[in-house]
Amino acid sequence: MLVDTYGRRATDLRVSLTDRCNLRCTYCMPEEGLQWLAKPDLLSDDETVRLIRVAVTLLGVTDVRFTGGEPLLRPGLTGIVERCAALDPRPRMSLTTNGIGLARTAAALKAAGLDRVNVSLDTLRPEVFHRLTRRDRHHDVIHGLEAARAAGLTPIKINTVLMPGVNDDEAPELLAWAIAEGYELRFIEQMPLDAQHGWKRDGMITADAIIASLSSRFTLAPEGEQRRGAAPAERWLVDGGPHRVGVIASVTRPFCAACDRTRLTADGQVRSCLFAREETDLRAALRSGAPDAEIADLWRRAMWGKKAGSGLDDPSFLQPDRPMSAIGG
Ligand code: 5AD
Ligand code: SF4
Repeated sequence: MLVDTYGRRATDLRVSLTDRCNLRCTYCMPEEGLQWLAKPDLLSDDETVRLIRVAVTLLGVTDVRFTGGEPLLRPGLTGIVERCAALDPRPRMSLTTNGIGLARTAAALKAAGLDRVNVSLDTLRPEVFHRLTRRDRHHDVIHGLEAARAAGLTPIKINTVLMPGVNDDEAPELLAWAIAEGYELRFIEQMPLDAQHGWKRDGMITADAIIASLSSRFTLAPEGEQRRGAAPAERWLVDGGPHRVGVIASVTRPFCAACDRTRLTADGQVRSCLFAREETDLRAALRSGAPDAEIADLWRRAMWGKKAGSGLDDPSFLQPDRPMSAIGG
């Protein structure tokens, strides 16, 4: 098991398969992209599957999420999914993607054993999409979503980040569209994880502002007892249900006390938190011939030291050295 000194247990593994991306979302990367990891530094498919096997069979991980950068850019993705689906116990598997390329790959991913997808989409307007991502690919994302739905990669969740003065007026429109299309929409507060360090606490669109904006068109009721458990989304029933909308207040109401995550970067480093300032090098252990038990032990130790919180609410907060695209979302 992966437990920490605060009694939390990590059962949800996020695996970044590449730090590269075919978009340049302003809240993530600069226009020119980043200094990408060199191929020999990336875990191979075999190494990736081996670490996931250790997590699932020795450390109690039940859920595996593939992330990036953009994980659909990883050539071996379908094979990795297929090999993970054969593990015993079989983990639930999802993919966090920008949707580009999903139109081509959704059916094969489903056949390989992927359960569902989270697709990032911040706007319904192609010109706003271009402004946010610096690429003209809105159409590809919409097609990707349709292909995922047709392939049965459901429930399909959509992650939306609202940026002040760019798409912050679109929340109700996005929700109406998601409901009509059968997607589950979740708004995520913008976090300080961009490579350019452009995040400003003052400018960000808060969860409260998002709820207020949605309430201009919908009646929202908090779902259940409003206990979030490990799921970071605060879910709201829309117009009496059955449709829901999520609002992830990662900055204004951090959910660290219930966090159940552990992260593996594309170059084989374990991070106990997106905002952790330390990493544990499993790749070096793998490549020096360490047996599974030793790798499991390193991983346990990496998680044991997990901090209580992200520190986001502290004025002395320091951004992690690596941006989100290198850590995995
Ligand atoms: N703040 C909040 N969400 C972000 N994402 C990427 N960068 C940020 C950020 N700085 C989102 C992406 C994707 C998910 C993995 O995280 O839009 O949906
Ligand atoms: Fe790519 Fe995701 Fe970063 Fe956008 S947020 S540039 S889709 S990695």
